[in-house]
Amino acid sequence: MGERPDPAVPNGWVTVTVKAASLNHHDLWTLRGVGISADRLPIVLGCDAAGVDPDGNEVIVHSVIGDPDAGGGDETLDPRRSLLSERHDGTFAQKVAAPRRNLVPKPAALSFEEAACLPTAWLTAYRMLFEKSGAEPGATVLVQGASGGVATALIVLGRTAGYRVWATSRGEAKRERAVELGADRAFEPGARLPERVDVVMETVGQATWAHSVRSLKPGGRIVICGATSGDAPPAELTRIFFTQLSVTGSTMGTRDQLGRLARLCEQADVRPVIDRVLPLAQARDGFAAMLTGDLFGKIVLVP
Ligand SMILES: NC(=O)c1ccc[n+]([C@@H]2O[C@H](COP(=O)([O-])OP(=O)(O)OC[C@H]3O[C@@H](n4cnc5c(N)ncnc54)[C@H](OP(=O)(O)O)[C@@H]3O)[C@@H](O)[C@H]2O)c1
Repeated sequence: MGERPDPAVPNGWVTVTVKAASLNHHDLWTLRGVGISADRLPIVLGCDAAGVDPDGNEVIVHSVIGDPDAGGGDETLDPRRSLLSERHDGTFAQKVAAPRRNLVPKPAALSFEEAACLPTAWLTAYRMLFEKSGAEPGATVLVQGASGGVATALIVLGRTAGYRVWATSRGEAKRERAVELGADRAFEPGARLPERVDVVMETVGQATWAHSVRSLKPGGRIVICGATSGDAPPAELTRIFFTQLSVTGSTMGTRDQLGRLARLCEQADVRPVIDRVLPLAQARDGFAAMLTGDLFGKIVLVP
């Protein structure tokens, strides 16, 4: 914690007064030095925010700083893209600067705390399910590591869209909560499933990869956006070619997808799962909870 000058506002950018921000595993990776170099420090952490723009509009801040034209219409494919807190100061502050095009209207139905959960974890889940999975409603989707920010979003959005959602989690209480949230069933990590699934949603990585590969029907797909427990498990190549599996990487989403996600939350009466709301001054407790996995859903910080 400390005093920092007001953020610099390049041409085409505006300053947003932050009303709520949310923690992502990305912030822990940054603290560990992953995805950032020393020459960029000091930098303010935080990818996600909802707040008020200079004209008084309630907005959600899209975290992907990139040029859609350089990415064939998708800013996440711009080779030079970054997320807030990677090259530009992030959202764990009273003010954050962002390109004007990155501001998405906040639906009135969502609180600032709820809206602040959408830009990273929930947007990533939205793209994994609705763009990358290729699965139609009614298909069975396995979510590994049910309690995380992305995973809880996958359960809620998957349930809302009519998928049969199965989940795994390390904790019994977390498995129960996954079912309360809308998972059809929840299993211990590595458990043999009643039948093979159409799609697996991976955020855990090394600890669950072998189970993910073995849990798929022939022709099934793993959509992977993260590797919290490690990124170098045995690749299971024989199983992948022999049962004709697909492995699809997924990262964040576009500004327009964030807008549609916000609308989906409003239309379908869906709300992000919030584990706890902490004042920014207690951010450290939030980081500690995420580090030990002592959470279910998103940790929100308010300035
Ligand atoms: N590519 C992208 O755009 C993108 C976007 C968002 C997140 N991510 C990545 O996706 C991952 C999840 O992010 P998040 O913000 O949702 O994190 P999070 O809220 O901290 O969730 C992590 C979850 O991983 C699960 N997990 C299961 N086995 C684990 C193990 N052995 N060690 C550690 N965790 C284990 C835990 O679920 P249980 O305790 O229920 O088992 C835990 O709650 C991170 O690696 C993050 O970097 C990527």
